[in-house]
Amino acid sequence: MVFAKIVETEKELQDAFFVREEVFVKELGIPLPLEKDEYDEIATHFVAYFEKQPIAAGRVRFLEDHTATVDRVCVLPPFRRKQIGVLMMQNLEQYIQGSHIKKVKLNAQTHAIPFYEKQNYYITSPEFLDAGIPYRAMEKTFDA
Ligand SMILES: CC(C)(COP(=O)(O)OP(=O)(O)OC[C@H]1O[C@@H](n2cnc3c(N)ncnc32)[C@H](O)[C@@H]1OP(=O)(O)O)[C@@H](O)C(=O)NCCC(=O)NCCS
Repeated sequence: MVFAKIVETEKELQDAFFVREEVFVKELGIPLPLEKDEYDEIATHFVAYFEKQPIAAGRVRFLEDHTATVDRVCVLPPFRRKQIGVLMMQNLEQYIQGSHIKKVKLNAQTHAIPFYEKQNYYITSPEFLDAGIPYRAMEKTFDA
């Protein structure tokens, strides 16, 4: 069974970092110093497990304009297209809504746009490059 949870221990944090490194650094070629950034100190992290092995991660930050931002959402390749990405987003969004925040912003790698669109995010920017990877900004507003 796969379950996702908020990171509460140093071990869980390292598990989330492990998945991020596998996906963003080893698979997608993002340099480690860019992948691990200063926001890791202030973000709320999430991790998912299958048979005690970490398989997915993501993090949330609250911004000064009363919105939240989601990033570093990732699932290990063998576990993709099994709705685990959706499970992570549901956990992140539940946490955001529990903090009475109504809007989520994120930067989607262009290949991941259908993943976010399926979860009712809409595109708000033209394409831009970050670390050589194309992105578009997306947002979602929760119903009042
Ligand atoms: C993007 C990512 C998190 C999706 O995770 P996932 O667990 O495979 O996604 P899900 O199974 O929950 O997908 C839900 C729906 O999103 C859509 N979707 C997911 N991945 C997709 C893809 N690569 N292309 C098109 N649609 C996709 C599909 O509609 C899918 O439903 P379906 O499989 O029933 O058709 C995962 O592919 C990943 O880790 N990618 C590398 C890291 C990354 O790019 N993260 C996003 C940074 S912005």
